[in-house]
Amino acid sequence: MFDLSGKVALVTGASQGIGEAIATQLARQGALVVCAARTEAKLQSVVAAIQTDGGKADHVVMDLSSSESVRAAVAAVVERHGAIHILVNNAGITRDKLLIQMKEEDFSAVIDTNLKGAWTAIQAATKPMMKQRWGRIINIASVVGQMGNAGQSNYVAAKAGLIGLTKAVARELASRNVTANAVAPGYVETEMTSGLSTDVKAEFTKSIPLGRMGTPADIAAAVVFLASDEAAYVTGQVLSVNGGMLMP
Ligand SMILES: NC(=O)c1ccc[n+]([C@@H]2O[C@H](COP(=O)([O-])OP(=O)(O)OC[C@H]3O[C@@H](n4cnc5c(N)ncnc54)[C@H](OP(=O)(O)O)[C@@H]3O)[C@@H](O)[C@H]2O)c1
Repeated sequence: MFDLSGKVALVTGASQGIGEAIATQLARQGALVVCAARTEAKLQSVVAAIQTDGGKADHVVMDLSSSESVRAAVAAVVERHGAIHILVNNAGITRDKLLIQMKEEDFSAVIDTNLKGAWTAIQAATKPMMKQRWGRIINIASVVGQMGNAGQSNYVAAKAGLIGLTKAVARELASRNVTANAVAPGYVETEMTSGLSTDVKAEFTKSIPLGRMGTPADIAAAVVFLASDEAAYVTGQVLSVNGGMLMP
């Protein structure tokens, strides 16, 4: 089950956290995974770990806030590996502030990286995916994009936008056998949430029926499914992986 041999995947934000787990799991299922982010040294160490694990991996340095950089990264994947079958738009940033304190730059930076960057990568990957009549686009959204969150108006707008983008793309590309889905994680233990105090985490955990924060591996398992042939009839969906904290 979930055999991804012969597939080429591009995972953004694969230098750590959820993206690293997604890259590792896709490679374990046989995909050749190209890991993308801004920090080359971290990408090299993720690629080395995947290769040590017996998987196939490569890296490309890419900054989502630059459309040229995103387009060049997608082109590099196709040029080096002859195809792009799976695109995982995972990279994301936060610039949390209450609405009245948020600067326009904080709003623009998060929208540009988390939403426009994903749109640009999808647009660049669409042509080769349509041509080969097989594609999987998987966007990492967030539970807060489904339910809102105080202090994150920029991030929530980007994640809700990513869910809408997923549905639009799913409708547009379905006839070419390209699916688009989103995964909406709840709170996951990564560097992004490492700044939260133990008290805040304990408070969050109370609202999670399964009684714990998620792990990057929890999210990666959902991505592997959506990337597989077994998910051929799933498109335009949001797969919530949140321990039950929201049951939309
Ligand atoms: N952790 C959570 O609780 C949680 C919950 C729901 C959703 N999510 C979402 O899951 C995704 C991964 O989160 P995470 O917790 O693993 O985050 P993380 O540990 O902060 O990692 C973020 C990744 O994105 C990359 N990145 C950031 N800005 C970039 C840019 N401009 N261009 C290219 N790459 C960039 C980072 O690498 P470089 O800095 O080297 O570029 C890094 O690899 C994000 O979209 C996040 O919003 C996380």
